[in-house]
Amino acid sequence: MKSGLSTKTFNELSHFIYDELGIKMPPGKKTMLEGRLTKRMRALGLDNHDDYCRHVFSEEGQSEELVHLLDAVTTNKTDFFREPSHFDYLTATTLPELARTYGAGMRRRLRLWSAGCSTGEEPYTLAMVLSDYAEAVPGFNFDIFATDISTRVLEKARRAVYEKRLIAPVSPAFRKKYLLKSKDPDSPLVRIVPKLRAQVTFGRLNFMDDDFGWPEPMDIIFCRNVIIYFDKPTQEQLMNRFCRYLRPGGYLFLGHSESLHGYNVPLKQVAPTVYRFMR
Ligand SMILES: C[S@@+](CC[C@H](N)C(=O)[O-])C[C@H]1O[C@@H](n2cnc3c(N)ncnc32)[C@H](O)[C@@H]1O
Repeated sequence: MKSGLSTKTFNELSHFIYDELGIKMPPGKKTMLEGRLTKRMRALGLDNHDDYCRHVFSEEGQSEELVHLLDAVTTNKTDFFREPSHFDYLTATTLPELARTYGAGMRRRLRLWSAGCSTGEEPYTLAMVLSDYAEAVPGFNFDIFATDISTRVLEKARRAVYEKRLIAPVSPAFRKKYLLKSKDPDSPLVRIVPKLRAQVTFGRLNFMDDDFGWPEPMDIIFCRNVIIYFDKPTQEQLMNRFCRYLRPGGYLFLGHSESLHGYNVPLKQVAPTVYRFMR
């Protein structure tokens, strides 16, 4: 396979990725991008990066290939119970406060959005935590929405089948309640129980779209380890757009290496990487 993107083609591709996905692709990432595209080019029977780009920019490519390009440039790393302090804060502070002040989860169903949910570990962790909370707080009810731009990760999330090694962070009590083992004891796989699967609604959503289409605002948004790929103006715009879909007093959780310090947004920090929408 002849390899390498010409500078001109790299620049075209990098603008396209920025416009469509908000993901910055500086010249230092050229080698990484070439490597990630090689696998996809093999599947298409193409042996030249510039031919691949012509395909991406063709009429057919614009509609069909975008989703594969997305998979090549986005990082989908995730885990069950990633950044566990957020789940403690959620049950100890966020849920009681939203119920007390706004009746969220009690007088009406609480709405929570896992924005950039990848293969589903984050929304299913939230479903476990909220289901367990609902057992202790009679009358508490909730809906979880989970979105990603990548149709490949969404397919995996909907299937809800995971390798056993990935469930190490799930406590034995939660494994017993919320995970199904295969009848075959040698199977390396587990599946999320149907009740939890039914609590999460998955959908495709691109953060670069102007309108996210939610008919009702959310009480809580988890958008963790996503905005790190965007530049500052894109992050600020996205946070302001999130506020259009967050109830006043609602909570936003970001990843531990993400911060809104110095941003012009109506979000007030209430704990490390936890913010509240203050109108
Ligand atoms: C690193 S994963 C984070 C998963 C999970 N939130 C966590 O913290 O474990 C980032 C996800 O953001 C998604 N993503 C990246 N750019 C996006 C965009 N423009 N619109 C929607 N999702 C996007 C990627 O497809 C990827 O699955």
